[in-house]
Amino acid sequence: MAVLVTGGAGYIGSHMVAELLKQNEEVVVVDSLQTGHREAVTGGKLYVGDLRNSVFMETVFRENTIDAVIHFAANSLVGESMTDPSKYYHNNVYGTLCLLDKMKEHGVSKIVFSSTAATYGEPEHVPISEEDRTYPTNTYGETKLAMEKMMKWFDIAHGLKYVALRYFNAAGAHESGSIGEDHHPETHLIPLILQVPLGKREFISIYGDDYATEDGTCVRDYLHVSDLADAHVLALKRLRDGGESAVYNLGSGEGYSVKQVIDAARRVTGHPIPAKLVERRAGDPAVLVASSKKAESELGWKRKRDQMEDIIGSAWTWHKAHPNGYNN
Ligand code: UFG
Repeated sequence: MAVLVTGGAGYIGSHMVAELLKQNEEVVVVDSLQTGHREAVTGGKLYVGDLRNSVFMETVFRENTIDAVIHFAANSLVGESMTDPSKYYHNNVYGTLCLLDKMKEHGVSKIVFSSTAATYGEPEHVPISEEDRTYPTNTYGETKLAMEKMMKWFDIAHGLKYVALRYFNAAGAHESGSIGEDHHPETHLIPLILQVPLGKREFISIYGDDYATEDGTCVRDYLHVSDLADAHVLALKRLRDGGESAVYNLGSGEGYSVKQVIDAARRVTGHPIPAKLVERRAGDPAVLVASSKKAESELGWKRKRDQMEDIIGSAWTWHKAHPNGYNN
């Protein structure tokens, strides 16, 4: 029996594949390589193609005995989602519909889904819990919420069991040093900071210091990508044990400001990393911090990598060895 990982050549998906292989699972990866990297898939069977291509997906489901799906394949750039909503509805929402239909046709009834803090929008209070209002402020979050809801109705109609994991800020790289973050364009704070000591950027921009936070810069909840992968393994176990569908936040419960993250990166790299204050980025909430109590009590999940320096250190190891990402 195999686990199908969609988007398994992406940043989080590739860490998932590595973890499943470590657990001796049989792994099948589907990735269009639109944003993923072939070199990021460290094992299993890779099929290159699109979830929306029914003939292609039929081959994947026919050639393998799939027991469960872990679904990462999606576009995930908040800014792009605001200028090209159609792309996000088409790839994320329609792509997921095609996947669920294919699972139903082939009697596959378990799915772990990569969701996001962006489903909440501007938080009512922090830390954010799963019962809080979901009111996305961008198309990306709206499509992820629509995907969650689609799964809910497939459960009611067809008994599909799902676990949606709402991540906060995924960060860091695999302990092996062989896989890590490689986005084009890069928009995330930590890889952008590390481009400065790599000599690829002169300074890091701080997007606003007039937020209602201690030092005025935005506060986020950073979680090591391998801790995220661990939670998916536990979610899969829950479904295999006959557990009901559920939604969980995944975060550290700790908030770090942009300035604090830059300071930690200075300590890790020993580089002064000049920073320049610029305008706020549109749509950034001041503070996003998760309560992951539900995942801890129901899944038995606990993060292992709890030091910001270690998280950044793992990213630094990856970026130093792969300054141009997978295209070294
Ligand atoms: N930031 C800077 N300078 C930069 C890049 C980012 O100051 O050059 C700031 C941002 O304004 C933000 C923080 O650093 O306050 C983190 O930004 P990221 O882009 O790394 O992450 P986000 O919190 O914006 O995004 C994350 C996920 C998204 C998800 C979103 C939910 O990466 O996928 O949380 O709100 F949609």
